[in-house]
Amino acid sequence: MGWVIYLFAIWSLKLNSQSPQQNSLGKAPGKIILFGEHSVVYGKPAIAIPVQDLFVITTIKSSRDEVKVYSDKIGLDATLNSLSIDNAIRKTLQLFSEEFSINVSNVEIKINSSIPIASGLGSGAAVTVSILKALNKYYGVEASLNVLNQLAFDVEKIYHGTPSGIDNTTILFEKPIFFQKDQPIEILDFKNTYHFVIANTGIQASTKEVVAAVRERYKNNQNKYLDYFYRMGEICKKAKTAFNTGDVKLIGELMNKNQYYLNNIEVSSHSLSILINAGLSAGSLGVKLSGSGIGGNVIALATENNVDYVKAAFIKNGATHVFSTILKGK
Ligand code: PMV
Repeated sequence: MGWVIYLFAIWSLKLNSQSPQQNSLGKAPGKIILFGEHSVVYGKPAIAIPVQDLFVITTIKSSRDEVKVYSDKIGLDATLNSLSIDNAIRKTLQLFSEEFSINVSNVEIKINSSIPIASGLGSGAAVTVSILKALNKYYGVEASLNVLNQLAFDVEKIYHGTPSGIDNTTILFEKPIFFQKDQPIEILDFKNTYHFVIANTGIQASTKEVVAAVRERYKNNQNKYLDYFYRMGEICKKAKTAFNTGDVKLIGELMNKNQYYLNNIEVSSHSLSILINAGLSAGSLGVKLSGSGIGGNVIALATENNVDYVKAAFIKNGATHVFSTILKGK
């Protein structure tokens, strides 16, 4: 009897470790950058947090046909092979197949996202991470987060050109991250409670283009831009300490200082400025753009009592979408 149980255990182990599972699901949140966008591309630190109120869910189930991909949000209903070779979804599946020597075939992949596209909320990275997590489950791979993160980063290059890696890292680890290129991932240690309000300008901006434009200006003005990036890095380091000690007021002040330098590197815009001024007039402790800028979002640090007031001020000043998120520490 003992050997029957033993053989059954071996058989079920094998079954779990490589054969497809029924209806596997991968979920990934959005993200928002609190400090250090752009300077992070030049090796300075940045801080980002996951936004669990927004997310992507990918489901994978077996199908008789070749690989099919659906996404309501972008009106996608296609076979994998009909997508262009540098399509991010196709690339995700290809990298996963190569990394784990798995032939991804006869599956139906459905992507559902509540994250606005091209708005600095990590929609692209969240799609990639949710697909990787779903594939990981479907094929019972049990890959480490670090390995999946490397794959997600390689896909990010399609979206961003020269990404820092902050989006995929924050979204994959689902924790506030103090991030610096080529450094070990640091989960941010923070005290106190932070009430953030996020408002969308309704203007989509391509991160790839904005990052490339900053690079052009940097090439023409190296000393000036290196100084700006250095200062943004220092602000971010101070913010890390302020989070550690729970100094909410200082975090607000540092957000305003960071915005000053984002303005200097010309990634702010008229629409962003209108929202930033509205947020400050409504009593926010700090307001800045978040993500690549030009369009996309602003983020305000409100107080527990004025969240609704700040939200109303954003709406009155043209924000197309407003929501709040709470970061709760020890
Ligand atoms: O626009 P987003 O949220 O994808 O953020 C881009 C952040 C940058 O620092 C501008 C680029 C990067 O890869 O870190």
